[in-house]
Amino acid sequence: MKALALALVTSLVVSHTALAQTDSVPAAPPPERSTKSGIFSADQAAKGKDVYLGQCQSCHTAASLTAGDFVNNWNTRPLRELFTYLVENMPESEPGSLSKTQYAQVIAYILQLNNMPAGEAELAAEPDSVAGIKIDLLPTPSLPSPMAWLNQPVSRRTARHTRR
Ligand code: HEC
Repeated sequence: MKALALALVTSLVVSHTALAQTDSVPAAPPPERSTKSGIFSADQAAKGKDVYLGQCQSCHTAASLTAGDFVNNWNTRPLRELFTYLVENMPESEPGSLSKTQYAQVIAYILQLNNMPAGEAELAAEPDSVAGIKIDLLPTPSLPSPMAWLNQPVSRRTARHTRR
């Protein structure tokens, strides 16, 4: 009886090992990280608010960074692209004039404005280091209807993909 059990276990183990070896299905990809994953710290966003007030607010209302064109232009894109865009283009009067640390802070603040959750760790202060994070600003069910953009003037609607 013992021998039988041992034989059974052995054959199970062997078949299992064989399966594992011939298994050609690739390993599951790591879970996707998005701006909803708590990718910046609250402290970082608070510092980003100061950057925003000093360097961005003169041209951008907070509302303009939380809806309409901003969401249409950036949602689902890699966060790295937004980071690079800001470094290369903003502030419009003096692109690249902030430190990478400040760009990361202001991104954290913009994400917070968009109701993205803060987490434990800070957002890395380097575009390449935020690779793999997707911008996901999408309406949670409690937000206004996704059709609200229809109420915008037509000129704004058609312009929204042609900027940049
Ligand atoms: C002197 C005015 C000015 C300042 C200061 C400025 N911006 Fe801009 N920003 C603009 C203009 C103009 C555009 C539109 C550029 C285009 O469409 O080519 C823009 C575009 C953007 C966009 C893209 C918006 C969208 O709807 O896609 C973001 C994000 C942005 N700015 C963030 C910032 C941040 C963050 C700062 C501060 C660090 C900043 N800007 C400072 C004028 C400014």
